[in-house]
Amino acid sequence: MTENGFNMNEMKKRILSGVTPSGFLTIGHITGALKNWVEMQNEFDSFFMVADLHAITTRQVAADLRQRSLDTVAFFLSAGIDPEKSTIFMQSHIPAHAELAWVLSCSTGMGECQRMTQFKDKSAKNVDNVNVGLFSYPVLMACDILLYQANYVPVGEDQKQHLELTRTLAQRYNHNYSDTFTIPEPFIPKIGGRIMSLQEPTSKMSKSDVNQNATIYLNDSNEMIIKKIKRAVTDSDALVKYDKNKHGIANLMELYSIASGKSYNDIESEFRGAGYGDFKQAVGESVAEFVAPIRDNFMKYRSDKKLLNEILELGREKAGREAQKTLRKVYKKVGFYQL
Ligand code: AMP
Ligand code: TRP
Repeated sequence: MTENGFNMNEMKKRILSGVTPSGFLTIGHITGALKNWVEMQNEFDSFFMVADLHAITTRQVAADLRQRSLDTVAFFLSAGIDPEKSTIFMQSHIPAHAELAWVLSCSTGMGECQRMTQFKDKSAKNVDNVNVGLFSYPVLMACDILLYQANYVPVGEDQKQHLELTRTLAQRYNHNYSDTFTIPEPFIPKIGGRIMSLQEPTSKMSKSDVNQNATIYLNDSNEMIIKKIKRAVTDSDALVKYDKNKHGIANLMELYSIASGKSYNDIESEFRGAGYGDFKQAVGESVAEFVAPIRDNFMKYRSDKKLLNEILELGREKAGREAQKTLRKVYKKVGFYQL
């Protein structure tokens, strides 16, 4: 409360975002999502979620999923999310996500889900497991956001289409039943919103790539990072110049710019006349230095299960309360009989 009796939290706008615990986090998670979360948590009422319900849209080994879920919380902390400022929670701890998903899926067209590029990509990759959950997952994601009345959703570029669907579903519901949901906006970084695979720089860097050289994981050693960047696929021009059609070099310049804080112009001058070898060495060292503190802090947080559980317990209470408020309104408006 302020001196005038205002509740500051009520005046703050809200953000929500999440990561699916289907693998180890990568540098793309930092540049596309967590970096913005850390900056925004000072200004916004912030909710960050481990999207474990989403994880089972592809096959998971139960014991691994349990470990990865806690790993993800530890990565939130090691990247700089402060549990005193932000609410951190596990999606499956809040039943309202699945409950609202049922209601909203009853006003989502099959065609709307069928159009989603991530669905098309993932069903092409998992031909033996194209399940109904994978199909309707964007509806669940919309519910993650709408339950908390989030104003902004800091995500990487690949989530833009899901955010558009979220807005459509919210507007449709508000129109059919009167204003209920805040219409959220995506918040996508200009640099780092889509870090590409080091081996196939026309596809997104992914935590589940089978080629280990394609991805920089947040627990890779410095040597490993430097080696992976040295092996990164580039072109044969040997010219360090930003051109988005030179996918490999553009991607390395993007990583270097984020890790070192240098602009593309600075980088071009730094390597004028130099070969890719020198450039890759500098990128590798800079990215290693950027990842090192996150990796070291991760080890510290991950070994403190008591702390992680306490944070999740608090998150369950706070997120549960907020989500329940919205769900209650929705149930009433759709006409479910209330006792
Ligand atoms: P996911 O692991 O798919 O749940 O992604 C969690 C968040 O990280 C989302 O906001 C993604 O857009 C973001 N993200 C994942 N991979 C990348 C990448 N290679 N480049 C940029 N952002 C990414
Ligand atoms: N679908 C997101 C991804 O795969 C993760 C996610 C789940 C999410 N729920 C969310 C992101 C809600 C933002 C808001 O990257």
